[in-house]
Amino acid sequence: MIKWEFIGRLHPLVLHVPIGLIFGLLLIEGLSWVVDSGTRAWRVCRKAYMTLLALSTVAAAVTGYILSLEGQTDGATLIRHKWLGITAAVVSLVLWILTIKSNTRVQAVFRVLVLWGLCALMVVTGHFGGQLTHGPHFLSTHAPPALQAFLGSAPLETRQPSADTSITLYGALIQPILDSHCVSCHGPDRQSGQFAVHTAEALMAGGRSGPAVLPGAPQDSELMKRLQLPPDEAGHMPPQGKAQLSPVQISALAWWIQAGASSDPGVNRDEIPQSLLSLLPQPDTTGQSSPEEISSHMDEALMRRLEDQQISIQRITQDDPRLWISFPAISDRVTDETVKQLMPLAPWIAWLDLSDTHVTSGALPWIAQMPALTELNLRHTGIDAEGLKSLVQNPNLERLNLSGISLDDTVVETLLNMPHLKRVYLWGSNVSQAGLQRLSAPRIEVITDATPSEVLSTDPNAVAE
Ligand code: HEC
Repeated sequence: MIKWEFIGRLHPLVLHVPIGLIFGLLLIEGLSWVVDSGTRAWRVCRKAYMTLLALSTVAAAVTGYILSLEGQTDGATLIRHKWLGITAAVVSLVLWILTIKSNTRVQAVFRVLVLWGLCALMVVTGHFGGQLTHGPHFLSTHAPPALQAFLGSAPLETRQPSADTSITLYGALIQPILDSHCVSCHGPDRQSGQFAVHTAEALMAGGRSGPAVLPGAPQDSELMKRLQLPPDEAGHMPPQGKAQLSPVQISALAWWIQAGASSDPGVNRDEIPQSLLSLLPQPDTTGQSSPEEISSHMDEALMRRLEDQQISIQRITQDDPRLWISFPAISDRVTDETVKQLMPLAPWIAWLDLSDTHVTSGALPWIAQMPALTELNLRHTGIDAEGLKSLVQNPNLERLNLSGISLDDTVVETLLNMPHLKRVYLWGSNVSQAGLQRLSAPRIEVITDATPSEVLSTDPNAVAE
């Protein structure tokens, strides 16, 4: 049994057939003015061509209509596209009748006019269709200015850096992320899931399934859930194949929701976590950058100062700018204050080895603001189960070493709440068998022996799987 949805989803394939054919038909009509077009072969060719064109136009309209029933998009652009497409199908049938019947000379001229009309109709319909799939600014963004005015939708104005230290947090930090990654499908022209994010009001109004942002509760907000789904899972936002958010951008959204999801002006720059400052309008700073750009934003002077203190700072691999930070030479001198010192590098810290240091739970809120962190070694440190709760904020934490720390079963809940935790080392941590069992259920690998393969205890390339 073939599903309707399948037929609808053939639309992107089918629609290219009439577009190709109509240009071929224009060529045939054009040639018929210069060569002898009275022959039977010529007439048969034209009729066959026209029949194909009419059939494929109707097929494109029908599949498109079925696709629109899925309701993934709505808005003014879809309505225009739909009615223009239906009109094109009707006009193509009229043209087909005109072509099949033998025409008088006047009718022949009329037929050519209709053909040009259909061609124009297809271009416009196709343009709106393109806006639906690629967003309203896809074509205009790089168009010459004169053409931009004609296309009617110049790209959103780029925000100018403001020198003012008091800013609208929403305008400076949040809306730019939504503009660049979401508005093409959730904006004024198209509201996938009946959800739009081009203004704070629209964002807070939510979508088909209710509010997407619950102030103070990022973990329960539909928007954060969508962002944190595995990229290949249906419902992940932005959908697979589209530009994805960087870890810093995800943590910015989480932080903003946690802080109350307000769009009021008057937040001071100082209140924003260090690790998110890179997202704020500053000359030459963008949220998502190539490795070269990322490294060029790192504070090289600071890195040298830290290295002078015998802190080991290394790249994860030669062409990955993210950092692996450890303290092999000075572990007995490392305290919470040392972690705080690292914060200007927070957006780039991927692996952090604090094993055998004097770090306590006081350092964890800082570590929570390291959005790129994937591996964290806290073996033999002074942290506790309560403090670990702040790490739930880390969007990318995959491996965590808690060996040799006296914990209790309350830690199980915390670990289960970490969205991407894959492996946890709990050797000698007093978590009960029942707790360990709960933890290892679906996704987390629990390691409770003192194997030498502990996170970050060896050469980085050995633990990179
Ligand atoms: C390529 C188009 C596209 C982009 C880009 C996109 N989305 Fe979506 N989004 C959809 C579609 C289609 C749906 C409806 C299907 C579904 O619910 O999964 C949807 C649904 C949603 C919903 C659920 C709305 C509801 O109430 O059901 C949320 C929340 C959401 N998107 C957030 C985002 C965020 C945040 C971004 C940017 C980071 C984003 N989307 C980018 C296409 C897109």
